[in-house]
Amino acid sequence: MTLIRTDRYSWGAIWLHWAIALLVLVNLALGLFHESLLDGIKWVMPVHKSIGITVLALTLLRLGWRLMHRPPPLPADVTGWERTAAKATHWAFYALLLALPLTGWMLSSNPARLRPMAWFWLFPVPPLPISGAAAKLGSNLHGVIGYIMLALVVLHIAAALRHHFLLRDSVLARMAPGLNRNG
Ligand code: HEM
Repeated sequence: MTLIRTDRYSWGAIWLHWAIALLVLVNLALGLFHESLLDGIKWVMPVHKSIGITVLALTLLRLGWRLMHRPPPLPADVTGWERTAAKATHWAFYALLLALPLTGWMLSSNPARLRPMAWFWLFPVPPLPISGAAAKLGSNLHGVIGYIMLALVVLHIAAALRHHFLLRDSVLARMAPGLNRNG
């Protein structure tokens, strides 16, 4: 008899979590330092845009996966406010993971100064059919949302480490890549 373990995230959720986490961290660094440390390096912004489009696609996939796979329940001793905070953070992440690439795409679609975009130099990425005012709005929002994302990432990592090292529960382990593939 095969036992289906429900104490861990499904393999798809785990794979998508770590792929998106890595890409977002790289893109935060490229975005934040493109005008200072990385100034003048030609591949930085094309790679930033390509990673951002990838994050958008993976987030849509992840939302679809999330709707079809219920996450494992939190350990019983996690209190009410912690459950609420975890839920709010997770849904805020989904919102930011959509809003950040979309505002980046908007700001790069300004009809007054369009530059051709391509996904890792392979496929053309069309500009969004938007006005200059909408592109300006994207430009204003992209940086702000980037900083909110950075703050949320710090909070999320701190919470995961607290669970693992202080509370010593299974919250981090159930999102760690493992051998069990429970669909
Ligand atoms: C995971 C997705 C993304 C993250 C985490 C991210 C993050 C950032 C951050 C933190 C900045 C610096 C903002 C500032 O200092 O004010 C930035 C700038 C920028 N991003 Fe993104 N971004 C993402 C997706 C995208 C996408 C999809 C595009 C375009 C297709 C894009 C285009 C740009 C451009 C052109 C800038 C420079 C803006 C300027 O210098 O005025 N980004 N990004």
